[in-house]
Amino acid sequence: MSVVGVIAAGGSGERLGAGEPKAFVALAGRPMLQWSLEVLRAACDRVVVAVPAELVEGRPERVAGGSSRSASVRNALGSEAAADAAFVVVHDAARPLVEVELVERCISALDDADGAVAAAPVTDTVKQADASLRVTSTLDRSELWAIQTPQAFRAAALRDALDVDDATLAAATDDAGLVERAGGSVVVVPAPPENLKVTTALDLAVAELALRRRAAC
Ligand code: CTP
Ligand code: MG
Repeated sequence: MSVVGVIAAGGSGERLGAGEPKAFVALAGRPMLQWSLEVLRAACDRVVVAVPAELVEGRPERVAGGSSRSASVRNALGSEAAADAAFVVVHDAARPLVEVELVERCISALDDADGAVAAAPVTDTVKQADASLRVTSTLDRSELWAIQTPQAFRAAALRDALDVDDATLAAATDDAGLVERAGGSVVVVPAPPENLKVTTALDLAVAELALRRRAAC
């Protein structure tokens, strides 16, 4: 019953604007990808990484990413290393603060679900507004979760969910959404808000601080 880790690292990092793919930008002394790779290697039997095509460099654990995040995940799942996976853990290289314990809790939550997603309780008040910016409702925050990665899945459920056209893949903001769309059951796994996603230069600075502080403890 092997657990295969898939790291989505195939993006260009336009909003970060570092002049190189985000997953390869230096962060607290190593490429950002390295932080997640180390954690997933500790929690999974094997790890496949989807990277920009020019960075595959003949490395056996790397596959070329696709035109969208979920297309990159689908490419990684299609690799030989993922062929016998019973469970798959998908993680974004853009979340370098992930910890082994969180990955393990996501995998354990698959006992009674097709998917299990790391998520933090929403702390802002969330309102809906129409096109004219008129507020139409205030959502009940106690039921809202900000979804992160890692996201763990029964491999068959994820493969089924990713078996859709490229436009549907491109519209998906996470893989669990595709599993839900295919009728699968998904649970949330409470996660720390510190498992942040590096999108902008400010996020990169915060992640740098957090990783250096962790190393000092
Ligand atoms: N990703 C991927 N393949 C793509 C697009 C994104 O594997 N075609 C990965 C990114 O490398 C990242 C994760 O998905 O680890 C989350 O995506 P995002 O934060 O949007 O990263 P980028 O797409 O690289 O950034 P941007 O949207 O600013 O260009
Ligand atoms: Mg992107």
